[in-house]
Amino acid sequence: MEEIKVFSPATVANVACGFDVLGFCLDGIGDEMIIRKSKDKGVRITVSDGYDLPLDIDKNIAGVSAKALYEKANPDFGFELEIYKRIKPGSGIGSSAASAVGSVFGMNQLLGKPFNQNELIEFAMKGEALASAAEHADNIAPALLGGFTLVKNLNPLRILQIPSPEDLYAVIVHQQIEIKTSEARSVLPAQIKLKDATTQWANLGSLIHALHTNDYALIGECLEDVVAEPYRSKVIPAYEILKKAAKTAGALGTSISGSGPSIFSLCQGIDIAKEISSTQKKVLNSMDVSFEVYISKINTKGVSIL
Ligand code: HSE
Repeated sequence: MEEIKVFSPATVANVACGFDVLGFCLDGIGDEMIIRKSKDKGVRITVSDGYDLPLDIDKNIAGVSAKALYEKANPDFGFELEIYKRIKPGSGIGSSAASAVGSVFGMNQLLGKPFNQNELIEFAMKGEALASAAEHADNIAPALLGGFTLVKNLNPLRILQIPSPEDLYAVIVHQQIEIKTSEARSVLPAQIKLKDATTQWANLGSLIHALHTNDYALIGECLEDVVAEPYRSKVIPAYEILKKAAKTAGALGTSISGSGPSIFSLCQGIDIAKEISSTQKKVLNSMDVSFEVYISKINTKGVSIL
């Protein structure tokens, strides 16, 4: 194989109670990339379409992760990357993770899959670190593996794949403002109260149980974030109103997607998802903001070959 085209999906990190450790993969929203072997050694980005992102591989997230893999593999040929960026950077739905994952997944395929999933995640994390100035894999793991993933440990890396109920849908509201992950992280306190920690880990443990047992009502009870949301929600316009609108429309729960500004809701079934979407659209239409709303099933496949 000389060339491959991949779809690298958007993801929702944190999922309310799982700051930096829990994430899930979205369907239908993602970047496309063409990865091609070249005679000249090294990695080059030949196309960066969609947003104004650098072609320099040391400044481009897909380039940084690609370079990490390339240096380890040390093949006697090179790679060219064509990046068709469709997830807006700074949107909160794993734009940088999609970049980081797409290049390493495609290159690994063209090399005959010498690297395992954990190694690919580690290469991708090098790219992600460029955007967030911190190591976390809660977008990368679901982008690569699909479904819900839990980062049990970063060093050594240990990722758990968590099942999810068949009829679980996500509704994503993306208001067109940019929030840099590094800035969204800088507003968080270094320490949290023991009472908040207890609430958060009770919710996270219970959410994992609910996902295993298809307990939609319990999923809803667990979608609470007392760690990051109180600080980050302040800069998301109409956050509480949108959350309330989703609840009225039947959402199990709503919280910030990753570091925002996107907001996600989870619900049971496509009909409720459509109801949440239309209720939230009404709220946003009455405001002077541009936005997009996506409805997605949980994508259980992750990054894929097109
Ligand atoms: N867990 C990360 C954060 C996700 O909330 O900062 C950001 O992409």
